[in-house]
Amino acid sequence: MSQPSFRVSPVTPRIGAEVSGVDLSLPLDDEMVRAIRTALVEHQVLFFRDQDLTLDQHKAFGRRFGALHVHPASPSPEGHPEVLPIHADARSKRVAGEAWHTDVSCDEEPPMASILRLHTVPPCGGDTLFASMFAAYDALSRPMQDFLSGLTAVHSGEHVYRGYYKYAEGQRADSKAAFPQARHPVIRTHPESGRQAIFVNTGFTTHIEGLTRRESDALLQFLYAHCARPEFQVRFRWAPGSIAFWDNRSTQHHAMWDYYPQVRSGYRVTIQGDRPFHRAQESAASRSTVPA
Ligand code: SIN
Repeated sequence: MSQPSFRVSPVTPRIGAEVSGVDLSLPLDDEMVRAIRTALVEHQVLFFRDQDLTLDQHKAFGRRFGALHVHPASPSPEGHPEVLPIHADARSKRVAGEAWHTDVSCDEEPPMASILRLHTVPPCGGDTLFASMFAAYDALSRPMQDFLSGLTAVHSGEHVYRGYYKYAEGQRADSKAAFPQARHPVIRTHPESGRQAIFVNTGFTTHIEGLTRRESDALLQFLYAHCARPEFQVRFRWAPGSIAFWDNRSTQHHAMWDYYPQVRSGYRVTIQGDRPFHRAQESAASRSTVPA
């Protein structure tokens, strides 16, 4: 490995690790990329400090993990369609990501991971909270895991993007067909680790198919409260040049907007993902410990 002081230090037992001893502005060898990817799958969100990256270096780092995603709605800096600006100041009426969500889960193939670097942070506040959807799934009872495992949910971008960005008045035909929408399993299997994760979120999920509206609303409310339990979380305190690299297949996050009217600013590069699927772990019969 070209950077021998590389180190991964868990922040909590369930989610989050600080990574040190690597300069992400330099080209990374395959062994380093494998080590970062392994740490990402295990810890679900990685935190790097003091990373001085241009937009091209930020994109080059992201590309080592897959093709880059272009956001369906947000504007981007000139010449960098794959870069999503994250910015709030005294004129902001809202900020991106200030509710629990998984990035762009309304896409048929939602992003695998996101890499956010902030260059300007408020004197205090502006943390990001991350929650492990592996831990949230593991904490459910077996009958609830089995029930959820047969369900499919609808995720829509319409209520999120209507009126904003490219969907703002006069920017684009505000037709329903233009908004992204997708159906995903409520429990998804992580394609690299095989672990199961809850995959519904307050940002994009509208309902669970096959249930009445009252049943769907009640079940989603239960899952949202369950997923937001503090024991599944890690909270990241930003500094200029910090990076958070999270796995959207196993986490949700929540950007805390508690710093108004201060400025918080940076850029996110997002890596394309694949279609979520659910693979049953083992049948009920093979789980039985009682001899027949
Ligand atoms: C986001 O990517 O959802 C925003 C996260 C943040 O600003 O901390």
